[in-house]
Amino acid sequence: MNGERYAQITGWGMAVPERVLTNADLTKVVDTTDEWIVSRTGIQQRHVVASEKESTMTLATRAARRALRVADLAPIQLGLVIVATATPEYSFPSTASLVQDALGATNAGAFDLSAGCSGFIYALSVASDIIRSGDAEHVLVIGAETLTRITDWTDRNTCVLFGDGAGAVVVSAWDERCGVQASVLGSDGSGGDVLILPAGGSHAPTSHETVSSGGHFIKMNGREVFRFATTIIPKATEAVVEKAGWQLADLALVIPHQANIRIIESTAKRLRLPLDKFFVNLERYGNTSSASIPIALCEVIDGGRVKAGDKLVLVGFGAGLTWAAAAIEWGVPTPVKPQPWPRRWLASLRFALATIRSTVRRAERRVYNWAMGPVGKEDWRGRLRQRVDRWRGRGYT
Ligand code: COA
Repeated sequence: MNGERYAQITGWGMAVPERVLTNADLTKVVDTTDEWIVSRTGIQQRHVVASEKESTMTLATRAARRALRVADLAPIQLGLVIVATATPEYSFPSTASLVQDALGATNAGAFDLSAGCSGFIYALSVASDIIRSGDAEHVLVIGAETLTRITDWTDRNTCVLFGDGAGAVVVSAWDERCGVQASVLGSDGSGGDVLILPAGGSHAPTSHETVSSGGHFIKMNGREVFRFATTIIPKATEAVVEKAGWQLADLALVIPHQANIRIIESTAKRLRLPLDKFFVNLERYGNTSSASIPIALCEVIDGGRVKAGDKLVLVGFGAGLTWAAAAIEWGVPTPVKPQPWPRRWLASLRFALATIRSTVRRAERRVYNWAMGPVGKEDWRGRLRQRVDRWRGRGYT
């Protein structure tokens, strides 16, 4: 201990939709083959949302609940919720606010972060800095996507690549030197059009025209992205290792963004590291954008591939164009002991109460607006409204 604060990952969880779409399934939709997809990308299947009940927010909430259980943390202890996503529930409100409400994280601020597939590492870096500055004790960082909701199922160049899912970590203040040791963030907006969702923003608001021209689907220049990724991933890895004061040879594992096995193989070659130092699970999930690294991290931890003292690098690239890397010294002993049943029960009770609380607050708002009449009227309803407003105001301190 040296009196400094560190930002340690103390909880982790992931969630993917149940429905699996295999390469064979895709051959029925577009002109492709299992052989082409596997040899060019390494992907064999992906999980996809199947009903209206599944969305970015529901996946994020499931992953977050698991992370909170592992951290053995009550949602009210969170100071901030960040959701990195390119497929938010809505343009606004933020997905993070919806997750904050669903969890009952009533003391937390919440915002979404948009940095393409690099988003999770951006969010982790922000969380780490906020914790180290002393502004929060616990931050929930989530990467969550439903990319298949913006996928053009007639475009074989893109539809074979993406999948849905979410991964979450709890980052907590720690007094021993471990956790996030350094991060590197980068952007080159001149490549913005290389990977883009062209319509639905202020540049091209939704119209009949944007819908009929397919403007609400992912457009990508695959070769450009490939070139960018194979250059930037080794550079970002080297930069973050240097910033942390480590050597490449110190690394126990690199967890790269899961986009294409050929990008990972090229990175291993350029860095002169053996391929088995790179964790790969893209064959099962495809590219889940900002969810890919936290999902991979969960599998690394739960699969026993990391132990206390190990040095890890997380590294990603994506729309923007952006890139990001984080150097993490693992500090939590694994595997984590299962919690005794009373604590598990308490966690379930908290989540159930959060759902009830959210429902009651929504209902209360509706009743209030119906019963209190228009703002500013000076009759008895106006006076009642003023009283109730004063009382309700207490909830927002
Ligand atoms: N099935 C069969 N053929 C396909 C196909 C598919 N699903 N998708 C593309 N093709 C065809 C192309 O039409 C092209 O045919 P053509 O030569 O007759 O025009 C041919 O395959 C080769 O295309 P090319 O783009 O050179 O393939 P590639 O080896 O570069 O692989 C990607 C394409 C998309 C897999 C690869 O470029 C890639 O992974 N890029 C990075 C994408 C990425 O990571 N995006 C997310 C960033 S976060």
